[in-house]
This record gives sequence, C-alpha cells and structure tokens, in this order.
Amino acid sequence: MTTPVRAAVLHGVEQPFTFENLVLDDIQADEVLVKITSVGLCHTDLAVQHGHLPGAFPFVLGHEGAGTIEQVGAAVIGLEVGDAVALSFAACGHCASCLAGRQAYCENFMRLNMAGVRENGTKTLKDADGNVVSGSFFGQSSFATYSIAAAKNAVKLPAGSPVDISGPLGCGIQTGAGTILNSLAVPAGSSVVVAGTGAVGLSGIMGAKVAGATTIIAVDIIDERLEFARKLGATHTVNSKREDTVAKIHEITGGGAQFAMDTTGVAQVIAAIITATTFGAKIALVGVPRPGSTIDLGLLSASGKTVVGAIEGDSIPQTFIPQLMALHLAGQFPFDKLVTKYKFEDIQQAINDTASGKSVKAVLMMP
Ligand SMILES: NC(=O)c1ccc[n+]([C@@H]2O[C@H](COP(=O)([O-])OP(=O)(O)OC[C@H]3O[C@@H](n4cnc5c(N)ncnc54)[C@H](O)[C@@H]3O)[C@@H](O)[C@H]2O)c1
Ligand SMILES: [Zn+2]
Ligand SMILES: [Zn+2]
Repeated sequence: MTTPVRAAVLHGVEQPFTFENLVLDDIQADEVLVKITSVGLCHTDLAVQHGHLPGAFPFVLGHEGAGTIEQVGAAVIGLEVGDAVALSFAACGHCASCLAGRQAYCENFMRLNMAGVRENGTKTLKDADGNVVSGSFFGQSSFATYSIAAAKNAVKLPAGSPVDISGPLGCGIQTGAGTILNSLAVPAGSSVVVAGTGAVGLSGIMGAKVAGATTIIAVDIIDERLEFARKLGATHTVNSKREDTVAKIHEITGGGAQFAMDTTGVAQVIAAIITATTFGAKIALVGVPRPGSTIDLGLLSASGKTVVGAIEGDSIPQTFIPQLMALHLAGQFPFDKLVTKYKFEDIQQAINDTASGKSVKAVLMMP
C-alpha cells in the first residue's frame, strides 16, 4: 500500500526546495514506514543544494529525521508499530567495515546515503504524474511527512525521549559527541581543543564534558558562539580572529593539548590546532575542507601525533544514540539547547538562519 506524502523537493543545484505531493512506495521486508515528527537541517543537505556533493535530482533530502513507526516489514525484528525512532545514516551491514563494527566507514556508504536509491537500486518516491523522484537520502529522505527507512538505520528511542528534537542525534550531534567519545576516546582529566562551535563542535564540547576532560578549549571567530560553548562545558575560549590560537592554547595547557578536533574544515585552523597539541596527541578532522586544501607535513613528522579523518564520530547509531539520549535524560548532555524549531514550510528561513549563524541546529516540525 503506497502512502501519500508532502515533501520538500530539490530539483537541481542552487534551486530552492519546493513543496510537492508525492507517493511513497510500499515498504520492503527489511524496512519500516515512519511518520516523521521533525527533521534537523544539516550542512550536508546544504552541500547537496550548493553542488558541493553530488545529487540525484529531483531529490528529497533530509537525514536527521525522527518520528513514529507506522508499519514494519515482514522480516523486521526489534521494532514495532508505535515505536519512537531517530533515523541515522545507512550502512550495508555486510562489507568488511560493517562486519568489523565500523559502519561509518561502510564501503557502500556513498551508494546507500547519497545515490537516491535503495541498496537493490529501486527508488521509493514518485510524483503525482508517476515520474520517479530520488529518495533514500541517508536511507531516509526525511524532508517529508513519511519516510521509508531500513530497519537497521531506525534507532528505537528510550521511553521519555523528546522525539521532536531527536533527529539531529542521527547525524550532527552524534558526529560531534562521537568524535570525542569514540574516535578520540578522550579520557577523564585530559585537555581537548574543539575548533568551530557550530552544532558539531558544541556537541563535541558536551561530549568532552561527559568524558571528564578537565581542560576544554573552544576556538571560533564568533564571540556569541564562544559564550555559548562556555555554557555547555568549555573551560576556556579562543577567538582566533583576535588572539594567537597556538600561543593561547600553549599557555592554557602548559605546553600543548592532548586531543583536538576540527569542525571548521579551514586548513589554517587545522594547522594551528595541530601545532597547539603536545607530543603524541591525537587530532580528529571532521569539517569538510575545500578541495585542494593542504597542510605542512612538518607539523607531524617526529611528533608522535596521529591525525584521523572521522566520519559520524565512529558511531554505531543503534547503541550510541540511546547512550546519548540516556545522558540527555540524566541532565548530562543538554543538546536541546542547540535546537531552534521551525515549521516545515519555513525551510528557507531555517536555511537562511543557519547560514547567518543565527540558528545552531534548525529542526523542522512537521504539520
Ligand atoms: N565528518 C562527518 O561525519 C560530518 C558529519 C556532519 C557534519 N560534518 C561537517 O562538519 C562541519 C561542521 O558542521 P556544523 O553543522 O557544526 O557547522 P557550523 O557552520 O554550524 O559550524 C562551523 C563553525 O566554525 C566556525 N569557523 C568558521 N571558520 C572559522 C575559522 N577560520 N576559525 C575558527 N572558527 C571558524 C564558524 O564560526 C562556526 O561556528 C561541516 O563542514 C559539516 O559538513 C561532518
Ligand atoms: Zn548530516
Ligand atoms: Zn557496509
């Protein structure tokens, strides 16, 4: 049985999202039908809109969906009609990375998350005239009132979860917190630098506080963001526009930080935070750099430092999202403070406010 949906459709690079009535396919045996309650807006959606990532147009984006299960496929185990879920990235489950428990590095990641098709190549959406529309963006395409997701990327939320703001746990928030808690495995009592204090960096700062890091240094160029970072756990802030980032971090840490994470993607910032770390430090790169960006290898040679390019905070969403939600419900991970709610139809306003820095994490509420 197909499902009518209202969706925001992107027809090409630099086009606006248009609201259209589409038809969602019947679910397959390993899928669930989710009534979307709300969906976060992430830079990756905007990267497709701006042509920085490939898009299978016409395309329904949206990859931080949350909602309630309305139908479960015949082969689905562990999910039931009525369950509240957050949808995360898709991974195949059968490649070498997935089998090693590293699904953020799934060998089929691009096809399953960006190509607009299910794993078997079929498409989930059609317009009113029967023309095919690409869906399955990050295995969900949740800029729509209903979504088909593979059961393995629908994460059941613990009782009492605020479903309406849970979608961003599936991407931006788990990326920030996971980079600290999983990729860098920051131990208690350590020093951490987080460069860039948007949704991902601020989630990293909250993660560092959860980890018990005792020196948490936020770096940005916007004072309001840095003040916000302090409220969420940063012990020190550096405005890299006005201050010497390396000198200040050396001074705060007495010789260099043990861990660092970049969410700016800016080569100069990455070079600065590598320089500002101590011997043997571990540094994670999360922000998407401009093509062709370079850093000086002299920053790394004979330093004992490790630089890792992390995806989705090395998260296993099925276990990590409930862990983050448990921390939230215990008052230790206040990700709700990052969220600004918008009506679904106000997606352009949400995009504008995200671009201007007015909103840290815009979440679109379905009618
Ligand atoms: N690797 C992954 O798995 C993954 C997942 C989600 C998002 N991302 C990427 O992470 C990045 C951050 O996402 P976000 O949503 O937090 O973005 P954001 O734009 O909200 O935050 C970036 C922050 O960096 C700051 N910044 C920019 N230039 C700077 C500079 N020169 N010096 C210091 N600070 C500077 C900005 O002021 C802003 O506060 C994006 O590139 C996004 O595409 C990666
Ligand atoms: Zn994302
Ligand atoms: Zn895989």
